Amino acid sequence: MYICLEGIDGSGKSTQITLLEKWLNDIGQEVLQVREPTQSDVGVLLRKMLASSQATEENVQRTLALLFAADRTVLMKEIEEAKSAGKVVISDRCFYSSMVYQNDVEWISQINKYAKRPDITILLDLETETALKRCEGKDHFENIDFLKDVRDKYLELAEKEDFYVINAGNGVNKVHDDIKRVLSPKFGVCI
Ligand code: TYD
Repeated sequence: MYICLEGIDGSGKSTQITLLEKWLNDIGQEVLQVREPTQSDVGVLLRKMLASSQATEENVQRTLALLFAADRTVLMKEIEEAKSAGKVVISDRCFYSSMVYQNDVEWISQINKYAKRPDITILLDLETETALKRCEGKDHFENIDFLKDVRDKYLELAEKEDFYVINAGNGVNKVHDDIKRVLSPKFGVCI
């Protein structure tokens, strides 16, 4: 199973992924954790570009979109192999991030034609103001209007693509319980 967690910067994905891996291990699942951008050379370049103050400019965003698509192409093989070996793959972001952070949905879909769709996508939804406070300057896209737009696009996409939407403004344990509630029937366990 390929599970993806999505959400704006500061929505708490990393914390929830750590808790989720532990729970999956406890119920007997072997897990592979992946994240986008990856640790590949392309991923390293992406992180460098994301740190630049020009990251939201249109031409930079187009370059980013192409690099993100290249970066995830490499990741797909790793995900397929893990799935074939019966592992649960938890991904911190997937091509849906490109659909909401970068522009021109049609073009983004084309360049991500070979990206596998996750079996389950969970959106950690959070007020932009709260998310920015949590980031405390670490955020790549610090522009509040940009992030508000990203959040709106996530919520639109969630309806179209049947994401599970979880309120990430609740405490860490409540959010974790909500994620378990979504996933436990998929693994035939009770919580
Ligand atoms: P993030 O999950 O915040 O990583 P970290 O916690 O290591 O900083 O992701 C990095 C940034 O990349 C985030 O601001 C969203 C952005 N991003 C895109 O713009 N497009 C994409 O396709 C992906 C995967 C990420």
